[in-house]
Amino acid sequence: MLEQLKNLQIAAKNEFLKIKDAGSLEQIRVKYLGRKGLISQLMKTIASLPPEEKPLIGKKANECKRVIEYFLEERLSQLKQKSTKNKKEKIDLTLPAFPFLTGHKHPITLVLEETYQIFAGLGFEIAEGPEIEKDFYNFEALNIPKDHPARDMHDTFYISKEILLRTHTSPVQIRTMEKTHPPIRIIAPGKVYRRDADVTHTPMFHQVEGLLVDTSASFSELKGILTAFVHQMFDPQTRLRFRPSYFPFTEPSAEIDISCVMCRGEGCRVCSNTGWLEILGAGMVHPEVFRAVDYDSEKYIGFAFGMGMERIAMLKYGIGDIRLFFENDLRFLTQF
Ligand code: DAH
Repeated sequence: MLEQLKNLQIAAKNEFLKIKDAGSLEQIRVKYLGRKGLISQLMKTIASLPPEEKPLIGKKANECKRVIEYFLEERLSQLKQKSTKNKKEKIDLTLPAFPFLTGHKHPITLVLEETYQIFAGLGFEIAEGPEIEKDFYNFEALNIPKDHPARDMHDTFYISKEILLRTHTSPVQIRTMEKTHPPIRIIAPGKVYRRDADVTHTPMFHQVEGLLVDTSASFSELKGILTAFVHQMFDPQTRLRFRPSYFPFTEPSAEIDISCVMCRGEGCRVCSNTGWLEILGAGMVHPEVFRAVDYDSEKYIGFAFGMGMERIAMLKYGIGDIRLFFENDLRFLTQF
């Protein structure tokens, strides 16, 4: 009898292990543990055993039943685990994709890249210079000596008496002319710094400087180049106005306005009802500047221009507050 119980236990275990799905497991359960199953049948025969054997065999039979029940439960949970694992690993290609957030270029990067492209088309190369600059390059060599009133306009961050954060990208003109010889056709993009902060000013902003030096160059060429730039950056209908102005490093100098991109010159809040927006400073390179880099001003002639990229981006994209560029607010940045 004990032998029979042991064999039953082994047979049940083997059968459970062979089963591959929960449905067939039920059949085996009924076979062993059901009301008319093998265990029940065996239990019934206990009644006809001699009384002294009954307790032990009864106990063993119950044990055998519990072991088989345990096998059953184990196998059932194994099969369940396997089926959920299979489901997890299955790839359903018809499901909609997870919405990944893609990166966006900063609006300043966008206008800078567009500027590079336009000037590359006009034969200009990109030049760079340091943001921590010497007084000599930022002012002196650009015909702005120590006592020059134009220094007041720059609200300079000084690091020491002779070292400062550059207030414009014009010093790259000097550095380029020192290193190379004409013909020169460069644009110099970069960060500049001024002690200034309000709706249209931030302590750091971006400028693009332009310089052309050759044995011949004229103000009308300068006009042509800036007109080509404005027409590509904004739209070909945009009108330009060259107003006489003053910069120490150019003579003659001009400030350049474009017809208002919002109202097309009708007059609105953005252009203060003038119909015009100032976007550029420019002029013919001053002979004093050539002298600072040892260029013969009888032999060479050139023109230069400079513009603020935040202003260009604000006008191009209709942005009302310059501070938005530097607040890292994704609600703003993801619009570009
Ligand atoms: N450096 C000037 C500024 O920051 C801009 C500028 C004006 C640059 C005239 C030029 C120029 O090259 O010719 O206000």
